Amino acid sequence: MTSAVAAEPGATTPVIAALAYHDGQFVPLEQAQVPVSTQALQYGTGVFEGIRAYVQADGGLAVFRGHDHYLRFLRSARTLRIDVGLDAEHLCEVTAELLRRTGATTDMYVRPLAYKRALLPGTPPGVQLTGVSDALSINAFRMGSYSDRGGIRVAISSWRRPQSAVLPVRAKVTGGYVNNALAVDEARAAGYDDAILLNSRGQVAEASTSNVFAVVRGRLVTPPVTADLLEGITRDTVVTLAADLLDVDTAFHDLGRDDLCDAEEVFLTGTGAEIVPVTEIGGRPVGDGVPGPLTTALTTAYSEVVRGKDQRYQHWLQPVGSATD
Ligand SMILES: Cc1ncc(COP(=O)(O)O)c(C=O)c1O
Repeated sequence: MTSAVAAEPGATTPVIAALAYHDGQFVPLEQAQVPVSTQALQYGTGVFEGIRAYVQADGGLAVFRGHDHYLRFLRSARTLRIDVGLDAEHLCEVTAELLRRTGATTDMYVRPLAYKRALLPGTPPGVQLTGVSDALSINAFRMGSYSDRGGIRVAISSWRRPQSAVLPVRAKVTGGYVNNALAVDEARAAGYDDAILLNSRGQVAEASTSNVFAVVRGRLVTPPVTADLLEGITRDTVVTLAADLLDVDTAFHDLGRDDLCDAEEVFLTGTGAEIVPVTEIGGRPVGDGVPGPLTTALTTAYSEVVRGKDQRYQHWLQPVGSATD
């Protein structure tokens, strides 16, 4: 089968799948368009996910924790009164079919997006969640590991993570990412790689698109859900692997700036970033300024699990199969 993964102009490696699932059909990516009147474009009323599919030992692709991502997707959609029209099982099937049809043979990143589209007849213009049609698109990109395993430098952002009384922070809402984009922009302008955002109480919430872990006085700590963070699937994976494989329990409690100053290790977790060591925060080295032993052990365990090398976690992997299966 010919691969439907196209090359970026000038690139020798394919980067973006030329197919999308759009309005219930698999279509060439250029046909997956929305009009400028799209409500979600104007008001940020969409929800999305980021899911990875990894090449396994047999050369095939498997989606990692797709079902869990789609459960969060459906919870996010419910918050915005978006009817996705498919349950998590069917969304997993559509995703596998999309990846099969692209013929992709490299690690991929899947981006489902459910959004408010057009005013229904009789609905007056305005910012609203009812009286507006819903839509679903899924597309996929080629994406290998991009995080710097040697460690990144992060700033503490002057932008605060909104509290849940301001924005539904546990839902992955497109409009909410203005906050994240501003934090990244500020951090990069100051020469950092990423930003850690504090919540309205001045405690660590999360980084721009990942959760934060720290080893403080020998204890692995991550902020609790009440710290106004997105409950990461990777965060959950890391908590599970730390307990199962390394006999390390995670404490869920608030992290302050002083904890970050004291920490022996800090790392970020996210589907895109995977596990990334933080070696400097706001101009101060974290611990010895190099990735710590627990971060390194978790990174190794994580990469084995996502590639199906640890039989105990096969239930997190959904083989995509080939177009001829
Ligand atoms: C704001 C934010 N926090 C945390 C995460 C990490 O979540 P996950 O591990 O499910 O990718 C993400 C990425 O989805 C994110 O965008």
